[in-house]
Amino acid sequence: MLRTARTSRLLGRAQFSRHASGTVGVVGLGLMGHGIAQTAAEKGFDVVAVETEQRFLDGGMKRIDDSVRKLAAKAVSKGKLTQEQADANVAGALGRITPTLDRGAFASCDFVVEAVIEDIGLKKPLYEDLGRICKPDCVIASNTSSLAIGKMAAFCGKPAQMVGLHFFNPVQLMQLVEVVRTEQTSAEIFKKAMGFATDLGKTPIECIDTPGFVVNRLLVPYLIESIQLVERGVASAADVDTAMRLGAGHPMGPIQLADYIGLDTCHSIIAGWAKEYPTDPSFRVAESLAAKVAEGKLGRKSGEGFYKWDGDRLAK
Ligand code: CAA
Repeated sequence: MLRTARTSRLLGRAQFSRHASGTVGVVGLGLMGHGIAQTAAEKGFDVVAVETEQRFLDGGMKRIDDSVRKLAAKAVSKGKLTQEQADANVAGALGRITPTLDRGAFASCDFVVEAVIEDIGLKKPLYEDLGRICKPDCVIASNTSSLAIGKMAAFCGKPAQMVGLHFFNPVQLMQLVEVVRTEQTSAEIFKKAMGFATDLGKTPIECIDTPGFVVNRLLVPYLIESIQLVERGVASAADVDTAMRLGAGHPMGPIQLADYIGLDTCHSIIAGWAKEYPTDPSFRVAESLAAKVAEGKLGRKSGEGFYKWDGDRLAK
């Protein structure tokens, strides 16, 4: 059972020393947002986690609870922490997160990271609110994978405060954060954003506001090309994946990775780019990807995509 936010905060404050200081707001507690909120809390930040409906808040907090406990149990099994220390870490991290439906809570934040779905129609009013609510020295960041940071900066009306902070899935385990600047991002805010990524225990890289930044600009066309290899009958999905794991040393093959990320996410990124940059040959929608999404076979999150899934793992 999750504790109430207030009890948890008191518990967390009373028992544990802090590593980082400041208050982090996270908008959206889905696949990425819950990982960002969890990581910030684990590193000692106070976190306000904001959703639009109680059921989404509860779902996100449940994910965080599961993940924090899993990581703690692993640390104990590896002898890195005693059970007592692990229990303390779990209580500390959960205690620093305040779930709320009130966007007004962002007024006290030093950093706000938006991780809602990639729907510009949803993001526009959200950024208008952030522009009104956030402090003048607050870093306003989007975790978008594929939309222009400049667009969000215009919506919020505080372009000097706006950056991209692009995390990778699963946020709890992946080391990289791309820190994205627009021409209007202030030097001070960018520096603060780089420092924040470091304080989260991640390795930041700097880049400018272009489609896909660095990783997705390379990764998404690679995933699509892999799916198209299968469509052309060059090799089976399993063999393409084995090839890239054993021949190129990747931790996951590309088709498994597309399932892992979510086929709807991959599709929406590539379809958006294909529409916006119709002459770029690396932005093409694979037919079988579109078909899977139309069938509701979204990969890991729906239990089936190109593979069948059992939770976070491929079904045996
Ligand atoms: N919280 C806690 N524990 C977690 C976890 C989470 N969120 N996710 C995985 N774990 C645990 C697993 O349960 C597992 O625990 P056990 O060993 O106790 O079972 C452990 O971490 C390691 O998992 P695996 O055994 O599956 O081992 P792995 O070595 O394969 O690591 C991985 C998993 C880190 C996901 C690795 O396979 C990997 O790096 N895959 C590629 C991921 C990747 O490329 N991500 C980027 C996607 S692109 C993106 O995110 C950008 C975008 O915008 C689309």
